[in-house]
Formats: sequence, C-alpha cells, structure tokens
Amino acid sequence: METGLMGKRVLVTGASGGIGSACTRAFAEEAAEVVLHFHRGQERAEELAAELGGGTVVVGADLTREDEVDQMFAAAGSLDVCAAVAGVWPSADVPVWELPLERWRATVDANLTATFLTARGFLRQLEGDGALVLVGSTAGLVGEAGHADYAAAKSAIIGGLLLSLKNEVVRKNPLARVNAVAPGWTESPMTRGHVSEEQVGRISRTMALRKVARPEDVANQVVVLASPILSGHVTGQVVTVAGGMEGRVIHD
Ligand SMILES: NC(=O)c1ccc[n+]([C@@H]2O[C@H](COP(=O)([O-])OP(=O)(O)OC[C@H]3O[C@@H](n4cnc5c(N)ncnc54)[C@H](OP(=O)(O)O)[C@@H]3O)[C@@H](O)[C@H]2O)c1
Repeated sequence: METGLMGKRVLVTGASGGIGSACTRAFAEEAAEVVLHFHRGQERAEELAAELGGGTVVVGADLTREDEVDQMFAAAGSLDVCAAVAGVWPSADVPVWELPLERWRATVDANLTATFLTARGFLRQLEGDGALVLVGSTAGLVGEAGHADYAAAKSAIIGGLLLSLKNEVVRKNPLARVNAVAPGWTESPMTRGHVSEEQVGRISRTMALRKVARPEDVANQVVVLASPILSGHVTGQVVTVAGGMEGRVIHD
C-alpha cells in the first residue's frame, strides 16, 4: 500500500531503543530518509544506521536539554516527519507518598519536557505539510499505580499537549498534522524483566489479545499516522496499541 513517505525526511527520537529502532526500520521500508536519534546508545544507533546503508544521519542529544535539542535539529537538516519516541519509564514501583521530588521531576522532564522540546524544534523548521507523531502510553489513559510520575507525563502528552498542538500546527501549514500512539506493554529494553510468561498472563487479563506488543506493532501504527495518504485527514487522535486493553487488574 502506498504511504507517500518515499523520500520524506523523518526524525525518529529514541531510535536507539526498542520501539524507536522498529519505527526507524518501518520508515526505511517505506523508502523514507531516516535521521536516527540516540542519547546514551550511540553504538546501537550506529549499528542500525549501518544496517540501513551509507549516508544515514545519526544525531545524539539529551532531549531534556534545550541546547542539545537545538543542536540536534541543526544537525538533522530539514525534516518532513518527526516520531517523538524517546521516553523513560522508571521501573521502581513507588507510591506518591514516597515518591521523591527528584524522580518526579526527572520523569516529567524525560517524557513531557523532552516531547515538548522535540515538537518545538520540529515545528520551528517545518515548511511543508508535515506530520508529528507523539508516543504516550496506556499509563496515560488508565493510570499506573507506583508510576504516577510516568502516567501523569504521558497523560499530558496525549491530552493537553496533543490537542493544543493539533490546532497550532495548522498555523504553520494548513495540512500539518499531529497524532499519538499509546502503547501498552511492549517487549523492549524498557520492559525487560517485566514480561515473563506469568506476568503476561496477568497483564493480558484485561486485554482481548493474549500477548504483549512487539515493537513492530507500535511502529506500524506510527508509520500509518505519519503517512499523508493513509492518515491525511486524521489529526489530534490517539491510537492505542494494547491488544484491546480495558484497564488494569487491581486485585487478585
Ligand atoms: N515498552 C513499553 O512497554 C512501552 C509502553 C508504553 C509506552 N512506551 C513508550 O515508548 C517509547 C519507547 O520506549 P521503548 O520501549 O522503546 O524503550 P527503550 O528501548 O528503553 O528506549 C527508550 C529510548 O529513549 C531514549 N531516551 C531516554 N532518555 C532520553 C533522554 N533524556 N534524551 C534523549 N533520549 C532519551 C533512549 O536513548 P538511549 O538508549 O540512546 O539512551 C532510547 O532510545 C517511550 O516513550 C516509552 O515511554 C513504551
């Protein structure tokens, strides 16, 4: 199926991670020119760039830092599409009454502020009818006990930020679009050690499909939302990629 992404320049943040690398490969399969972003995983990003072939641009940045984000966009060159995939899920289960302010701030920064800075940098340089795809989480839809910092940051991304951006991007170009995906549990380095068979059995009790997502399940939806042909009249939407999840098991 034609996606209209051939030759488009696409920045994938978090391309060194599980979902970001799947997005990178999925965009490359559509013959897009992908710019790969990494933070600490330079080696992983460069291996992926080598897999895609010569000339692939790789840029490093801590997306919580304004100066580094500006440098990243300067190095990336002109872009048509941005998939803002980078994010952090602190694995320790800590209820709000024990949550240190330091972790709260770090999580909000690494997810919400990083997404704001990425969206800002992308939109500052946008000239055509580009597409921005944000990455939220089912935590932002149904909450996540022990991870209120992450759930709050992801809610803000797929709520207020997304819906405001939807009506702002058309000031840049009348056909510019912004959408989001909200993945549920997905096999990736982020969830390593949290998706054993027993855990999947428990997690999937509120899901129609009895599996956790593969990174490709999420990446395919990112590509569909980025496509000006498949999603040309779709903006401000959140696509949940969680096997029909209805909520969480609160008690055994
Ligand atoms: N896996 C899941 O179950 C799941 C569920 C819902 C939502 N999500 C969301 O999906 C996105 C991708 O997650 P993933 O599963 O692919 O996790 P992952 O493999 O851990 O990848 C996370 C990515 O974010 C980058 N990153 C982290 N902190 C950063 C910072 N300060 N500045 C710039 N980049 C930073 C990492 O870069 P380096 O590795 O180079 O340091 C890495 O590329 C995240 O937004 C996550 O919240 C994941």
